[in-house]
This record gives sequence, C-alpha cells and structure tokens, in this order.
Amino acid sequence: MELETNQALVWAAHLADIRAAGCLTVQVEGHTLALFSSGEQVYAVDNRCPHMGFPLQRGTLKDGILTCHWHHARFDLASGGTFDQFADDVRVFPVSIRDGEVWVDVASHDDPEAHQRQRLRDGLERDIPLVIGKAVIPLLEQTADASEAFRIGLAFGVRYRQAGWGQGLTMHTCLMNLLPYLRAEDRPRALYHGLSAVARDCAGLPPRFGIRPLPTLSTDLAALKRWFRQFVEVRDAEGAERCLVSAVRAGADHRQVADMLFAAVTDHRYLQIGHVADFTNKALEALDIAGWEDAEAVLTSLVSGYTNADRMEESNAWRHPVDLVTMVEQAFEQLPAALEMNQRRPGTWMGSDRLVPTLLGEDAQAIADGLLEALREGSTAEELAGAVAYAAALRIARFHLSNEFGDWDTALHTFSFAHAIHQGIRRVPSPELLRGVFDAAMSVYLDRFLNVPAVRLPEPESGSPGTNPDMLLEELLAAAGERGREAGRQLSV
Ligand code: FES
Repeated sequence: MELETNQALVWAAHLADIRAAGCLTVQVEGHTLALFSSGEQVYAVDNRCPHMGFPLQRGTLKDGILTCHWHHARFDLASGGTFDQFADDVRVFPVSIRDGEVWVDVASHDDPEAHQRQRLRDGLERDIPLVIGKAVIPLLEQTADASEAFRIGLAFGVRYRQAGWGQGLTMHTCLMNLLPYLRAEDRPRALYHGLSAVARDCAGLPPRFGIRPLPTLSTDLAALKRWFRQFVEVRDAEGAERCLVSAVRAGADHRQVADMLFAAVTDHRYLQIGHVADFTNKALEALDIAGWEDAEAVLTSLVSGYTNADRMEESNAWRHPVDLVTMVEQAFEQLPAALEMNQRRPGTWMGSDRLVPTLLGEDAQAIADGLLEALREGSTAEELAGAVAYAAALRIARFHLSNEFGDWDTALHTFSFAHAIHQGIRRVPSPELLRGVFDAAMSVYLDRFLNVPAVRLPEPESGSPGTNPDMLLEELLAAAGERGREAGRQLSV
C-alpha cells in the first residue's frame, strides 16, 4: 500500500529484511507491527489479532488472506477487513517504500467511537457476547457515559423482536438503573449483561414493523385512550398500536401516555402473571434514560404483550376455591366512594403497620376490605401501593428454600408486579391503576403457602449498618461485586 501524503511517516524496516523474512515484527511508536511481504508490496498490520490477541506474525498468508491460527479468523491483508464477524477488522498502517526503506504512517485516521458503536451493533445482530463486551469497554472508557450504548441496545431490541418488549430489554433497563450505584470498573460488566440479554432475546427472530399513525393527527387523547383500551380488550394489536402511535405523534406527554398504558394494563386481572405491568414500567424507565424522542418505537413494542396476555379471570387459582376476581371487582365498585372520603382526609393515614399483617394473612376478603379502609382513612395511592409492594418483598424475604425453583419465580413475579404498580402510581396516579394495587395484594395472598414454613428474618448485628438504607445498599453492592469478581476469577482459571 502506497501513501499519498508524507504525513506521520515513521521508518519501520529495511525492505530487504522484510523480503528475506517474509514477515517481520517491529516496534514503531508504541505499536507492534507485523510487516508482510506480498508480491511487490509490503503491508503493515497491528500484530495483535483483534479477536483475542494472538500474534498475527504467526498466522499464514495465502492469496492475500491472512489467517490467524488460534480461532482461524481471516483478514484481507490489504484493507484489514475480516471475513469472520466474531473477530474484528485488524488495523492496517499505510506503507511507503523509498530507496529500499519501508516507512509506515502511524497517525490514526479512524473514528474509534463510531467503530465501537458499529461493533456493538454487529454483536447485537449476530448475538456474539464477546463482540458486545469488547465494544462496551472502550465505549465507556472513551465517553464515561453509558447512555449511548444503552440506547443502541434499546433501539435494537424494540426493532428486532417481532413479539416486542421482552425479558432481555427488561434486564437491560434494570442493569442500566443499577449503573450509578456500581464502581466504575463494574459498570461495563452490568451493561454487557443487559446488552447480551437483548441480543439473546432477539436471536433468529424476525423484526417488528411499526404501524403508521392515523392520517389526521387527533389531539383527542381521551378518545384515543378509550379506543386503545377497547382494542386491547378484543385482542386487536394492530388497532391498539395505531391508537398508541397516534397519541405519541400527536404530542401526548409521558404522563398522558403512561396513563393510557396503565389503564389498559389493569383492565384485566394480573395480566400474564404480572409481566405486562412490569414491562410497561421498565419501558417508561428506559425512555426516561434514553430520551422520550424514542417513545414511538419503544412503547409500541409493548402492545402485542397486552393483547396476547393471559388474564387471571381465566385462571383456576384466581377463581377457586375463593373467587378473587369477583371479590376485587366488588371492591372496585366501592372505589369511587372510598376515594371521595379519601379527599376529605388527605395525607393522614398512619395505618401501614396494621395493613401489612392483613396483606400477609389468610383472609382475602379482609385484604380487599383493608385496602378500601386505608383509602377511606386518607391513605394516598402511593402509600397504599408501597405497603403492598413491601408485603410482596416480605414474601420473598420469608421464602423458604424447601420450595421449588418455580415457586421462587411465583414470589418474584408478584413483587415485580407490585413494584411496577407502585412506580406507575408514583408516575401518574389514577383510579384505574389503583385496581393494580388490589391485584398485587391478591397475588401476595395467593403466595402465602410459599412462606410455610417462613424463614425467620435476621436481626441486625451490633455494629452492622442496621436500618440505614444507604449503608445497607453499600454493603450489599460490595458483597455482590466481590461475588461477581470471584465468579470472573474462577471462569478465567
Ligand atoms: S485470536 Fe485470532 S482468531 Fe482468535
């Protein structure tokens, strides 16, 4: 390869020495280069294989293709481009031959950030965790800002999974939420796990094609919300998606959109064992991180989950031996009157300590009555949702290991749902979403035998962080980080 300019040229070797050796390794300006003689040309490449660092001077050059022998990645020697996407293009250095001397240009001509962003997309498209991890580390080093990588994963996940938002994007968002609490050296690992989960979730699946908004943009959001719920009711995903995308395009703000979604999420009981509410909450959190300009693609990815979801009205556990569905629907009829009384006593509720034991008890009717009573006594929707989420967390804390693994999922689904309803109410409280609090409470009730026998909750030891939440979090993250690093050490042995 000949240079067109003389810029940044550094002497590398005598041409005769390269010709005699076939391949010569030299150190130039901090770079280790492999200089290959091929026909009349000399080529200079970074000697480290971009896959996992095998020295390329020990590779084989044949017909212009350099093969690395560790995992057999192949490279076009002239351009450095790889034929194997699990590797990466190897950096080539322009060469100039003058009077029997070989000079190389070591100036960087690439945009390293753009390259790593492209490699991240390559890794997501091909579901290659190593490529994802190798892109994430320099991206975080270059920018110290994880939001760009997060956004790439989000855009990929909502586009390349026909079934829409799933477990991978939920994990991606959870881990991104965790990032500010992690040490700098642990952040790439968290981001990597989320992105890898997205890639795994989308692998081999067809893409999702969005639906255009209504031709004339309606600003009648009340009608769009009403139609959206009707279409979800009859499991019409296309109709529902057109309403949602029209609302977003018409400029509905994040509270209006969240209200529309959460109303549909709670029109039926405990949709898809809580996943639908959890995914909705996580999609909204993802937009808070990535920016609401991505709302159309992100939120419409939820819709097929709404229309395909199992409804607990159809499940035996919610119908027999106690008809929980009828019970909560009767409670919903009393909600307007309870909320009216609530308005007269706002912010005066002190009954969480009384309510939580009821929520963990054996009487479903007492639970429904207790929730209504709390509202009448002035509990805010957020306080009520928080008390139910706390009861769901206690179910997990008291979960006994004599249960099966599937039982653990059951308790955790209840908590994820209760948490999503709590967060949804914090974002945009509504009488419709309040129904989710009753659903969560009934799911806590159904999980009661997972606490038989109940694990005893440990008491704080003297000198321990006790009940200080910040210190507890610090200790927990330190323990989790140490365990993660230990797992990494064992894997690398
Ligand atoms: S190190 Fe070269 S192919 Fe793996």
